[in-house]
Amino acid sequence: MNKLIIALAAIATLACAPKAPLNTWTSEEKALIEAQDSIMRVLLVTDSKDSTVLRTPCDTITHEMLLSEDYAILARKMLATVKSPQQGGVGIAGPQVGISRRIVAVMRYDKPGRPFEVYPNARITAFRGKKEYGPEGCLSIPGRRGNVLRYRDIDITYSTPQGDTTESVQGYSAIIFQHECDHLDGVLYTDYLD
Ligand code: NI
Repeated sequence: MNKLIIALAAIATLACAPKAPLNTWTSEEKALIEAQDSIMRVLLVTDSKDSTVLRTPCDTITHEMLLSEDYAILARKMLATVKSPQQGGVGIAGPQVGISRRIVAVMRYDKPGRPFEVYPNARITAFRGKKEYGPEGCLSIPGRRGNVLRYRDIDITYSTPQGDTTESVQGYSAIIFQHECDHLDGVLYTDYLD
């Protein structure tokens, strides 16, 4: 009986232990980021291992990580992946390339030339107006589309080497930001569908 109690206590301790702070890139992350390929594999909900990663809430990218060579490589490869002819997406989030970190790449329809830009630690910090339905798809959910209610006018806050910054985003880019930031919390657009 005592042994059982000790074993149960040990399990309880493990279960309650705070998650170890992930202040640097893990060896698994470095291996994925530094792999030879310039384009990363996109995880799919149809694969059970991939699905677990897509459902895992992401960790923050620290200031030190933001200044690292691995961050620069990851940003470059996420852009190359989302822009690649086989993907042709308008946005992508860390978990979709197997990196459980708060990073998204978004096509800025609201800027001249519609540039793709990368945002570390992106989060939506204000919503304005009413939600409206619009069609969405996801690189991780092939062969599906659906209508989702989203705001058209938001504020995003993200990290820069100089500190956090906030900007207003309107229109389609605002929808993309909401979709991609959901990915960072393990939420998929299909969760909103009936
Ligand atoms: Ni998506």
